[in-house]
Amino acid sequence: MPEILGARELVVALGGGRRGLLGRRTAAVRAVDGVSLSIAEGETFGIVGESGCGKTTLARTLLGLQREATGEILLDGRRASGRAPPAARRDRAAVQYVHQDPGAALDPWWRVGATMDEGLRIHGVRDAGQRAARIAEMLEAVGLDAAMAVRYPHELSGGQQRRIGLARILLLRPRVVILDEPTAGLDLSVQAAVLRLLRDLRGRFGLTYVFISHDLSVVRRVCDRIAVMYLGRIVEEGSAEQVFAAPRHPYTRALLAAAPHLDGRASTAPPLTGDPPSLRAVPPGCRFHPRCALARAECAVTPPPTDTVAAGHAVACHRWRETVDAPEKVPA
Ligand SMILES: Nc1ncnc2c1ncn2[C@@H]1O[C@H](COP(=O)(O)OP(=O)(O)OP(=O)(O)O)[C@@H](O)[C@H]1O
Ligand SMILES: [Mg+2]
Repeated sequence: MPEILGARELVVALGGGRRGLLGRRTAAVRAVDGVSLSIAEGETFGIVGESGCGKTTLARTLLGLQREATGEILLDGRRASGRAPPAARRDRAAVQYVHQDPGAALDPWWRVGATMDEGLRIHGVRDAGQRAARIAEMLEAVGLDAAMAVRYPHELSGGQQRRIGLARILLLRPRVVILDEPTAGLDLSVQAAVLRLLRDLRGRFGLTYVFISHDLSVVRRVCDRIAVMYLGRIVEEGSAEQVFAAPRHPYTRALLAAAPHLDGRASTAPPLTGDPPSLRAVPPGCRFHPRCALARAECAVTPPPTDTVAAGHAVACHRWRETVDAPEKVPA
């Protein structure tokens, strides 16, 4: 399938210039630092990584809510970046976002039907009857009763809020939907229902998903391809099969080892050690090296190139050739 949404060497700087406590200047951090992605039409593309690695920032930049410092975003093969919000956001209306915190995306003082109606009105649907019909139809599509429209956000369960969040953006007829932690905080049965719904909607509306999550078991269930992010960079990318059955980056292997129920290979990868990384002190060389059991001198000096492991499977690690042939030893 052709690329629908792409990023080339995307760099996003946050903060900086503002005065912090005591009037000090705060330094900018590069929350996304050289990310390239190619998302094919119709697929579900997963982005995984620890809290703070830059997933939401990447999403906001793809959406045009946050301006990139350098690099390009492509929509249908055409350059879509270069403008600042809000113009950038308008240009990319075909890309919609389901918020990490579903409650935060809804106005607490408005009935959910009114929020949905407002979205349609802004998008130029003038006829109130038409708007009401589309809202009722969309509530049905996400498995909710039309009577939900008169509820306030706080009157909804977590699962219902997720469904409303989906209905609200699907009304705008997106082609790409970025789902930010769509199952976080839901219990397992509700989670399963939301994942089934997402699959139905993808088929019914011909959607492409960017699925952001730190939950590997969820990502494995729904994603066709997966990118693993670490401190603003993508360290490994491949099909779900490649990333789960033959991970090559020590970070990916450590994440999987920490989720033993997923790791049918009885992993020998050492678990993650050391402090979670901070953008305020990005290690030189390979960003993962302070936590990596395989690190050698060059890893602390030279950033690793992105190598091709197999067709569609790429890894940025100096030592990936050793991760399968000579399984890691847990350091003494
Ligand atoms: N306005 C800002 N100024 C400076 N730093 C920021 C700003 N907003 C976010 N950050 C930092 O950027 C980094 C990336 O944040 P982001 O929200 O993209 O991470 P995330 O991967 O989505 O995390 P989570 O899994 O917790 O949602 C974090 O270290 C965060 O503290
Ligand atoms: Mg986030």
